[in-house]
Amino acid sequence: MPHTIVIFGASGDLTSRKLVPALYNLMRAGSLPSGTQVVGFSRTPMSDDEWRASLRESTAKHAGDVPLDEASWQLFAATIHYQPGDIERSEDFGLLEARLAELEGTAGADRVYYLATAPQFYGPVVSALGAHDMAAQSRGARRIVVEKPFGTDLATAQSLNAHIHTVFRESQVFRIDHYLGKESVQNILALRFANTIFEPVWNRRYIDHVQITVAEEVPVGRRGSFYDRAGVLRDMFQNHILQLLMVTAMEAPVRFNANAVRNEKVKVLEAIRPLAPAEVVAAGVRGQYSGYLAEPGVRPGSRTPTFGAIRLEVDNWRWQGVPFYLRSGKAMSCRTTQIVIGFRQPPLELFSNGSRTAAREANRLVIQIQPAEGIQLHFHTKVPGAGMNIRLTDLEFSYSRHFKGRLPEAYEPLLLDVMAGDASLFARSDEVEKSWEIIDPFARAWSSDTMPAPDLYEPGDWGPMSSFEWMAAQGRTWFDLCPVLT
Ligand code: BG6
Repeated sequence: MPHTIVIFGASGDLTSRKLVPALYNLMRAGSLPSGTQVVGFSRTPMSDDEWRASLRESTAKHAGDVPLDEASWQLFAATIHYQPGDIERSEDFGLLEARLAELEGTAGADRVYYLATAPQFYGPVVSALGAHDMAAQSRGARRIVVEKPFGTDLATAQSLNAHIHTVFRESQVFRIDHYLGKESVQNILALRFANTIFEPVWNRRYIDHVQITVAEEVPVGRRGSFYDRAGVLRDMFQNHILQLLMVTAMEAPVRFNANAVRNEKVKVLEAIRPLAPAEVVAAGVRGQYSGYLAEPGVRPGSRTPTFGAIRLEVDNWRWQGVPFYLRSGKAMSCRTTQIVIGFRQPPLELFSNGSRTAAREANRLVIQIQPAEGIQLHFHTKVPGAGMNIRLTDLEFSYSRHFKGRLPEAYEPLLLDVMAGDASLFARSDEVEKSWEIIDPFARAWSSDTMPAPDLYEPGDWGPMSSFEWMAAQGRTWFDLCPVLT
């Protein structure tokens, strides 16, 4: 059956910067199922051709296809349509349904409703789709994609889930987290479960701790009014970083399907030790970069953290006693997302005379998600020559050196998965709610009036000094190399 992708929020940033370029790239690569049509819905009055012209410009900028291949664009543009409408006017959904029915013809089509609107419209769109019977699956599948933020805390996520479930069954709902579409995040599953060499050491017996860092060089910029209400915990931790933690810590699923994978991921969240309010304060550090208060849209005197580091304990047989350090910030020294598996020291330090400092650095496996994708294994080697001098060396795997051609952008595989009805890389309702249960205590503690203001750091630093002191007090150090792979 052909597919129709209906984008709510068609004139917004996400549509022009991510969704349409991803669909265009898929079409150009021959991966978009034939007969796929795209229908944009938003308030801006525009004709099909006006929308196509504006998308042509943005796609040329964001698809990485320079210059835009004119023949491919023309083919793609012919499949794009625009339906002006207001989410808050019920009759506009009647008009939308009529337009879709006309485009799909008697055969019907599998539909994807993509919520690319501001989050306050998720509920109204779902209600309107329900009221017009647009979730019924008699003339093809009906699936809905919900972007982040999925709620702002546990209570709002629960009520959004409950509302969506009044119209859509869970199997129709795709809560997107674009981090799961990144090649090297999926490669963590391959690394762990398509090999036998890592699993035997992937546990508390060999691993001392795990660090997950998502550092961004960019400041908050023009997203100030959104960001100032969200802060780093809601913007990055509840979704992207906990997803990285889940794929790092989960058990092997019995098969690779949506439920089996998501069951194992949820078990990780269930094993995370709940913290009492007093413990929460000691289990994290928060910071704000100097100059944040001058960003447009930021409230005067705002205490919103732009940097956060937290420590979580996963209380199960595999991980008990192995802390997971999670860290993210804006305006940091460089853009890098990496998972560092820090191994234990050998039981005896035989070669300490040769090079004391080098021998003290333990083995690590660095999984770099971006900017370049790959893996580095750090281990000790004897320096040639007399004496047992030891130095840390590495083995490296780089995606770009091993695989030619461009890596797909995260949205590309995820859009194909939605069309195929495969939810393995999307968050289930219980997963999202559990994530909020873990983040809420930190968000509450960090916004409490009794807390001092976040510690300041200079743009270009790795967060505030207190983050290093906090790690040192636990006998550990952050692994702070700007991308290990380039
Ligand atoms: C988004 C956050 O979800 O992820 C942004 O809202 C952040 O603040 C972005 O910049 C990071 O995504 P990526 O793919 O650039 O790491």
